Amino acid sequence: MARFRLLLLPGDGIGPEVMAETARVIAWFADRRGIDFDIAEDLVGGAAYDVHGTPLADATMAAAQAADAVLLGAVGGPKYDRLDFSVKPERGLLRLRKEMDLYANLRPAQCFAALADFSSLKRELVAGLDLVIVRELTSGIYFGEPRGIRTEGNQRVGINTQRYTEAEIARVARSAFGLARQRNNRVCSMEKANVMESGILWREVVQEVHDRDFPDVALSHMYADAGAMQLVRAPKQFDVIVTDNLFGDLLSDEAAMLTGSLGMLPSASLGAPSASGRPRALYEPVHGSAPDIAGQGKANPCACILSFAMALRYSFDLGDEADRLEAAVEAALDAGVRTPDLMQSAGGAPATTAGMGDAILAALEDGR
Ligand code: IPM
Ligand code: MG
Repeated sequence: MARFRLLLLPGDGIGPEVMAETARVIAWFADRRGIDFDIAEDLVGGAAYDVHGTPLADATMAAAQAADAVLLGAVGGPKYDRLDFSVKPERGLLRLRKEMDLYANLRPAQCFAALADFSSLKRELVAGLDLVIVRELTSGIYFGEPRGIRTEGNQRVGINTQRYTEAEIARVARSAFGLARQRNNRVCSMEKANVMESGILWREVVQEVHDRDFPDVALSHMYADAGAMQLVRAPKQFDVIVTDNLFGDLLSDEAAMLTGSLGMLPSASLGAPSASGRPRALYEPVHGSAPDIAGQGKANPCACILSFAMALRYSFDLGDEADRLEAAVEAALDAGVRTPDLMQSAGGAPATTAGMGDAILAALEDGR
């Protein structure tokens, strides 16, 4: 069997704690399922800044380029709020995304049966929810030029530019259509073609890619503001949503909260195939570094562990092993194991980060 090179970047805040549990899960798959991982670990974000004066050292960037998959915990924290923009922890993450050219960001919003009452929406609206947002991640207003703050006359002007090429739109559209074929075969594309030229182009190119290469997939288009509204009105109408970088940032936070449990949601950022034929890939939990609870054993490791499940599926082509891991997480929840973020009222003792890891490992053993 092939050897999989995995780079772990625990990062800041609760990142190291959730990564430690994920590392135990990875070790289980190596021992019990005979999967050959070559694991390296390095610094990112504030943790890297503290040591190297930069949120991502060049050597770490090179290691990420050479890895089959990168698994990242979280970056950022109040300690770094006053740093110059160019060395903020988030810049480390943005550099990884940009230089690895990870243009397709898959953000699933899945509602686990045991957690359906956590949503701020009614149970019947979210029970069984299973959608994926495919967010364009390497272009758009996050990276467009010109950008900056400059002085015009007697006042300052803040400038960012929304810019998309046809090729950038087409490749992320292809990712979304390909993913839909493995799911329920529906894609809804979101932009603001009513006010933005980049939105008009987005809509045209998504339609062209569809008509040429994916006519079997059901495609619809929505303005992003209407999409935001439909996401809370009737979220189960969606299967795959494809959208740009900024709308995707907003809509994916909204979709995550539909499930009521941010601590459960993984993500994958995929690029073009590398020399090995595998796509360049970075996996990370959607939750941030949660500095307020860092170091206290309160963090929920499920999102990071489920991010590793996505790596099994999308980088290593081990869909069965991914299913096995996802089932183990579900079994731990069904057994009532709850980190504090998954407890609605005081009642029963919450599980620690390691306690949740124990429960998932026990479920893996049971299911073997
Ligand atoms: C996300 C985050 C990032 C983004 C930040 C941390 C740069 O909000 O991954 O959604 O805006 O993309
Ligand atoms: Mg965000």
